[in-house]
Amino acid sequence: MAAIQLRAIEKWFDDVQAIKGINFDINEGEFIVLVGPSGCGKSTLLRVLAGLEEATFGEVIIDGENVTDRLPSERGLSMVFQSYALYPHMTVAENIGFSLKNSGVAREEISTRVEKIAKTLRLEKLIERFPKQLSGGQRQRVAIGRAIIRQPKGFLFDEPLSNLDAALRVNMRLEISQLHKRLGITTVYVTHDQIEAMTLADRIVVLDNGKIMQAGSPRTLYNRPQNKFVAEFIGSPQMNLMPCEVKNGELTLLCPKRQQVELEVQASEISWLGIRPEHITLCKPEKTNLSGEIIVAEYLGSDQFVYIDCGFENMLTVRVDPSKDWKTNSKVGLNFDSEALHLFNSNGNRVE
Ligand SMILES: Nc1ncnc2c1ncn2[C@@H]1O[C@H](COP(=O)(O)OP(=O)(O)OP(=O)(O)O)[C@@H](O)[C@H]1O
Ligand SMILES: [Mg+2]
Repeated sequence: MAAIQLRAIEKWFDDVQAIKGINFDINEGEFIVLVGPSGCGKSTLLRVLAGLEEATFGEVIIDGENVTDRLPSERGLSMVFQSYALYPHMTVAENIGFSLKNSGVAREEISTRVEKIAKTLRLEKLIERFPKQLSGGQRQRVAIGRAIIRQPKGFLFDEPLSNLDAALRVNMRLEISQLHKRLGITTVYVTHDQIEAMTLADRIVVLDNGKIMQAGSPRTLYNRPQNKFVAEFIGSPQMNLMPCEVKNGELTLLCPKRQQVELEVQASEISWLGIRPEHITLCKPEKTNLSGEIIVAEYLGSDQFVYIDCGFENMLTVRVDPSKDWKTNSKVGLNFDSEALHLFNSNGNRVE
């Protein structure tokens, strides 16, 4: 297991700067999830870590050793990509054992290790099959097996589950989680999936435009986002954000009706009020001073969300009782849980 340190990493592709100075320490055995919008530099950072791309500036340190100039094979890390090409003419066992065979490990030892890994990944009944005789999830497990057999100090995953259907993704997510608990291997995992990020990570790192916007536990990022970007990025449906101003301790929402929210605020430099969908309750419109019209109601079985036009640029999303039928076009009042507000200044930074 490896402790990994990234020191002032920058990556330039000609005049495009994909990574803009990243400093980050990963603890031994930690599960780190990298998230961020498309093109923000997640894969590039992973490839720099693996040694598949050279950092333009900065250093990669693994277990105290500077490996910046070392080849991928000398770093002790295994990588699993989104498109995991297995060798089609080799069986599951041969695919898993291939890297050992290549490095001259004795036949018996290979077969012992392959067996052990096949068991870990619940592939033992499939080891004589060829890739084309496997389901997507089984193939994915073979790809993971191929990565584990080298007994890496660290695992790097780049969206490994994005090709799978929803049910398989859930299964594989649980397997990866259990595998990590069992083997305790330091892992860096890139995903676009909120649930994967929230459930797998010890810490989530949110990247935007080649920079770290915030790193912390899933709870920290959800409950105390440090800026508007993280507030909107973490959580599905998204946090509601409304433009506002504060004068003499009174906060006014900036929409056509200029509605006031009774709030005791110390700071005056507040430009945005954020609140998550589960922290708003609906009531009769005359019972509160913020009201709107239900435009869409989305029933999801265990949950229900309504989208309300209150005159802001974006509709507000509210999580409501799924057993109740919410009529579109009806007028409703909104109450905010005053304990659950997030306040941001004009630069988008959290105020408190
Ligand atoms: N080989 C390359 N040459 C030039 N530019 C590149 C190269 N690889 C990546 N980039 C650029 O670097 C930036 C980061 O790309 P990267 O692949 O790391 O994004 P990403 O966060 O993984 O995105 P996605 O979520 O779409 O996979 C992008 O602007 C991309 O166009
Ligand atoms: Mg990518």
